[in-house]
Amino acid sequence: MMNASNEAVLIMDFGGQYSQLIARRVRDLHVYCEIKSYKTSVSDIKSKNYKGIIFSGGPNSVYEENAPKCDPALFDAGIPILGICYGAQAMAQAIGGTVESSTVKEYGNTVVNFNNDNPLFSGIKSESICWMSHTDYISKAPENFKILATSKTCPVAAMGDENRKLYATQFHPEVQHTEQGNEILGNFLFKVCCCSGDWIMSSFAKEQIEKIRQQVGDKTVVCGLSGGVDSSVAAVLVHKAIGKKLTCIFVDHGLLRKNEGDEVEEVFRKQFDMNLIRVNAQDRFLTKLACVSEPEEKRKIIGEEFIRVFEEEAKKLGSVDFLCQGTIYPDVVESGIGEAAVIKSHHNVGGLPDDIGFTGIIEPLRDLFKDEVRRVGLELDIPEKLVWRQPFPGPGLAIRIIGDITNEKLDILKDADAIFREEIALAGLDRSIHQYFAVLTGIRSVGVMGDGRTYDNTIALRGVTTTDFMTADWARIPYDVLAKISNRIINEVKHVNRIVYDITSKPPATIEWE
Ligand code: XMP
Repeated sequence: MMNASNEAVLIMDFGGQYSQLIARRVRDLHVYCEIKSYKTSVSDIKSKNYKGIIFSGGPNSVYEENAPKCDPALFDAGIPILGICYGAQAMAQAIGGTVESSTVKEYGNTVVNFNNDNPLFSGIKSESICWMSHTDYISKAPENFKILATSKTCPVAAMGDENRKLYATQFHPEVQHTEQGNEILGNFLFKVCCCSGDWIMSSFAKEQIEKIRQQVGDKTVVCGLSGGVDSSVAAVLVHKAIGKKLTCIFVDHGLLRKNEGDEVEEVFRKQFDMNLIRVNAQDRFLTKLACVSEPEEKRKIIGEEFIRVFEEEAKKLGSVDFLCQGTIYPDVVESGIGEAAVIKSHHNVGGLPDDIGFTGIIEPLRDLFKDEVRRVGLELDIPEKLVWRQPFPGPGLAIRIIGDITNEKLDILKDADAIFREEIALAGLDRSIHQYFAVLTGIRSVGVMGDGRTYDNTIALRGVTTTDFMTADWARIPYDVLAKISNRIINEVKHVNRIVYDITSKPPATIEWE
């Protein structure tokens, strides 16, 4: 077992959407965990000395022909097990319980009645809200199992065999809607598996650095830096592992925010002393984008040109063995890699072509959620400004200029956007508004300045609060902050004579204007 705390829990993935969420909750409780397929052999599992195993949920019915099954020998291995949802049903079926299909799905917040006279539910209220999502249910617990919880439609909402330390819950303790889910997972880890809980995020960084060192050996790695937190953290981990054998390529397409290109260079070249190639490709991108107004066309051109520039630079390095990417877990699940069902494809995964001749890909952040990536970033001394950088789209300012893109328009937008960001930070709102930016609307309108009539640009300000960027609400920025931003932009940025604030939520509008 290769981790600093010397204790680990195994999460067996039965194809559910929540395997990584379970892992994340376990990490939050300071226990190291690994996710492996339900196909992992019992002998392999025994050889790793896991303190416990959690079976994830899954989309199947145990009665489907190719439904994932668990080897009954696992239940006699002396390792505590917690089965969740499908994992609970698979456990019941494997050791003599009965699983039945209901005609109705039980979905959402459900009142569950608990027997809390056992280690798993010790301290849990006798009635607590839990999140359910299932059609099949355990109708009869296996021999030697006690029913530990019930709900209106679930005769066995949870069951346990205290002697063998086998437990199962039909509900999902890992999701936020389960009121005492964290306590239940904590009980499993500490009261059932007797974990000590001494694992911390800095151990993750250390472990990854060691792993990368072993994987790369004396070979070389190239990494595409965008200035975003994911690629930055991935690059710093690889750099700590192999130093100058890593080369980072930063393609500056000229569509970044004001001074951003220089800031990226400053951090990675000066602070981390990395091998950094900054490609100043502004002219190249602007030439390709000349007279293009259609947003999807802009995206396509920028995406293709980006790959071309990256490839050219990578080829100049001669033969490079590995490509490092800042893929994080939400990118992976959205692309349907692993056991989970496909939801949608995502532009970050496999964004670079694999025909440049790399022998392998290094993705040290593949298992982490965004906030965990930020925590690792801070552990690695990456400046807070970069770690907390708000999401910024790959095509950059190109999709914040409505219509065609010129150098002049870029300058106006960069200046207006910089003032907006500065004032939001001064007002202490930069962490509570999740994304905020200026848009050059392409509208010109009449104004009056001094004694003269003007006919100039309209800048729109957009600020949103959101948890997942799939839906969003417009941020209630105080009027006096908006007033100051408006005054400053009009006074300091030439060719802007009107400022509007976007008060549309998503849906129906998207966050970006294009
Ligand atoms: P929308 O505008 O779809 O944006 O509500 C949701 C989130 O995605 C970002 N976004 C992009 N990111 N390439 C990216 O890398 C894109 O083409 C792109 N379009 C939108 C957007 O900034 C927001 O965070």
